[in-house]
Amino acid sequence: MSDGVQQLEIIDESDIVAARQRAREMARRLDFGAVDQSRIATAVSELARNVVRHATGGKGSVRLRSVRSKDGRTGIEIVVSDAGPGIPDVERAMRRGYTSGKGYGLGLPGAKRLMDEMEVSSEAGGGTVITIRKWGR
Ligand SMILES: Nc1ncnc2c1ncn2[C@@H]1O[C@H](COP(=O)(O)OP(=O)(O)O)[C@@H](O)[C@H]1O
Ligand SMILES: [Mg+2]
Repeated sequence: MSDGVQQLEIIDESDIVAARQRAREMARRLDFGAVDQSRIATAVSELARNVVRHATGGKGSVRLRSVRSKDGRTGIEIVVSDAGPGIPDVERAMRRGYTSGKGYGLGLPGAKRLMDEMEVSSEAGGGTVITIRKWGR
């Protein structure tokens, strides 16, 4: 793993807190302002929470790294993946208010809104990989 790449296992509540803190720290080191640091930390914490809540029994992880755009901007990229049951209907899961459990259904749409880019790759039984990115101003 190259310098500046961090990876954390996501198993329980304490890992959500750790992922949130690591994301905030990396965002600060990459010169994101306080508001963007909070946005990034919140998005990561929602996705990590989904791993704990919805991907039970499936190993989960968060990988954080800095990236550079073609036009030279610095960004942060976070990949949250798990080997849980997967999301059978990603479009439905992305809707505000949709929950298969007892949640508020705001985690995925919230993470998308807080970040610049978000890609969800998942299918029933196949685990889930969600990539989010934010670019510096
Ligand atoms: N990692 C995941 N594995 C399986 N299902 C997931 C995962 N993340 C999200 N989902 C599904 O997408 C739905 C919407 O997620 P979210 O918007 O965070 O709402 P909530 O967590 O409150 O239910 C969840 O209810 C769940 O069905
Ligand atoms: Mg959620």
